[in-house]
Amino acid sequence: MKKIQISPSILSADFSQLGNEIKRLEDAGADMIHVDVMDGHFVPNLTIGPPVIKTLRKYSELTFDVHLMISPVHKYIKDFADAGADIITIHPEATKNLKESINHIKSFKKKVGVSLNPDTKVSIIEKELENIDLVLVMSVHPGFGGQKFIPEVLEKIELLKKIRDKKKYKYDIEVDGGINFENSKSVISAGANILVSGTTIFKENDGNIKKNIETLKEV
Ligand code: DX5
Ligand code: ZN
Repeated sequence: MKKIQISPSILSADFSQLGNEIKRLEDAGADMIHVDVMDGHFVPNLTIGPPVIKTLRKYSELTFDVHLMISPVHKYIKDFADAGADIITIHPEATKNLKESINHIKSFKKKVGVSLNPDTKVSIIEKELENIDLVLVMSVHPGFGGQKFIPEVLEKIELLKKIRDKKKYKYDIEVDGGINFENSKSVISAGANILVSGTTIFKENDGNIKKNIETLKEV
């Protein structure tokens, strides 16, 4: 079994203190930093872009797990690679040619993630599964933190694990949206090995992020 890792989403952090928030996450035992990039077009919300990611880079050596909810995504991939993203995750609906965009991310020596919205089927990306490092399973409709987990995605996680085992593929299975202390165990037992969390990490137990990270990792 792959090691369970937590990728806190800075969407729920104090945006006026992002550098310090990232340091605080690193000290608390975060395995990576999940950065949600939204364009007000692919999703109905706006967040941050490459210049902010670049300035944050010096605050931590942790992997920057950058989730691009922008369309068309292809022409911006280089900017995120140059800004210091380590994993670049894209949605198949946001590019004309998924294979080309995957190869473009690889050309910058970055890890490639592909994200599936709650209504997007695994079959849409099945041909690319052998070429990618990570599948990001959305367990809410992307756009906002603090939404309710959609339990139907558990089946998709199980299917992705089954395919990976059968074909001996290597991708990580990361789950994003509405993860809390009640559903984290079922997400892990379905086959996920990376959990994204914003609200639970920053708000539970009076914001004790160390405790929250440890609790989410429990199996
Ligand atoms: C939703 C984002 C998520 C979200 C997670 O569009 O991709 O990363 O911020 O936050 P919580 O844990 O609050 O659902
Ligand atoms: Zn995300």
